[in-house]
Amino acid sequence: MRERSFAPHYRQLTRKSGEHHLDSYPGYLEETSEGRVEHMSFVEVSKVNEIPAGTMKHVEAGEKELCIANVSGTFYAIGDRCGHQNASLAMGTLQGKIVTCPLHFSRFDVTTGKKISGPVEAKLEGMDKFPPSFLAYAKRIAEIQAPIKTYDRQVFPVRVEGLGIFVDI
Ligand code: FES
Repeated sequence: MRERSFAPHYRQLTRKSGEHHLDSYPGYLEETSEGRVEHMSFVEVSKVNEIPAGTMKHVEAGEKELCIANVSGTFYAIGDRCGHQNASLAMGTLQGKIVTCPLHFSRFDVTTGKKISGPVEAKLEGMDKFPPSFLAYAKRIAEIQAPIKTYDRQVFPVRVEGLGIFVDI
């Protein structure tokens, strides 16, 4: 039979590239027949005041890249890399609970991770003024990109404690 000890323990995490990251996190130990297993749990990824309502922030925690979105005062965490061509969703736009990818405009619901719509071809102003050779190149790139699909994003549980935003990674 498995037993869990929910008494929190803390461990130092390494700071990455100057980003704000938690110095410690609560986890729990589980006694299993194979021995004691450590579970990572909620990791502090940001302070509440760093993500105003209607905005997003890219954070890194463990091996994960996350987009933290503030939807009318409630925080959500979603995998930050668009499944289409890896753009950072946090660099896109947030309207209500819908984030739009900055690169080819796929849209996702940050509360569920569900894809709302797939990529669309970007139309640049003044394209007709470019030389034909460049336009042919751009057309070929668009042909290659068009069949690449994107899928739902992973969502992560979030909780706010004090001034901190914690994500279960
Ligand atoms: Fe997101 Fe292309 S990278 S839609």
